[in-house]
Amino acid sequence: FAPKLLAGQRVLITAGPTFEAMDPVRGITNLSSGKMGFAIARAAREAGAEVTLVAGPVHLPTPRGVRRIDVRSAQNMLEAVEGQVPGATVFIATAAVADWRPASSAEHKIKKDGSGQVPALAFVENPDILATVARSERARSGSLYCVGFAAESENLLEHASAKRARKGVPLLVGNIGPATFGQDDNALLLVDAQGHQELPRAPKAELGRQLVAEIARRLGVAAAP
Ligand code: C5P
Repeated sequence: FAPKLLAGQRVLITAGPTFEAMDPVRGITNLSSGKMGFAIARAAREAGAEVTLVAGPVHLPTPRGVRRIDVRSAQNMLEAVEGQVPGATVFIATAAVADWRPASSAEHKIKKDGSGQVPALAFVENPDILATVARSERARSGSLYCVGFAAESENLLEHASAKRARKGVPLLVGNIGPATFGQDDNALLLVDAQGHQELPRAPKAELGRQLVAEIARRLGVAAAP
């Protein structure tokens, strides 16, 4: 593995779940562990990049040399990401961003009143962080290379290709099932304009290094023999 494959690159990565509050002590989230994103952050750093990791609520140590910004909600994550886009050269969206958030968050804890009545929750759609970044001037001018992820339970190639087009990103990476949340290994399907390619099942640390090498190759950085 060439240690300086990403020298001079500024890599921005989202990882983990988001947490969408309904009151000061409750909310909805998902089971994303953040492990894949953290593994990519570590690999990108080891490859010589300057790395910023925007992390939702996860229980993982920060990889050495990586700058970490902790966020909670999708809106917080979008704000943090937008603050980092100027200057970034690669954006990798691994976060499992909540699709919806409660339409409002109560100022005080919602109380059980003893009547058996349950609160009615209304939801609104969260911003699509990846699509927003992919539409930015920086991405459209070719200064920022965007990579999306997809977790699908069936027809991965078809869904990943469609998602690549919908999100407007050059590279879409599919998690090859079964569900990888929390697992230490994974298998990936890379879909780009040239076609598709599989990175066979391996520990996420190893896949992170392979993906970084694939991204470097697409940036036109020659891989060392
Ligand atoms: O549409 P879907 O959630 O399946 O797309 C997954 C990809 O889009 C991932 O790269 C994920 O990080 C990103 N995403 C995002 N903001 C959202 C939803 C998804 O950045 N609100």
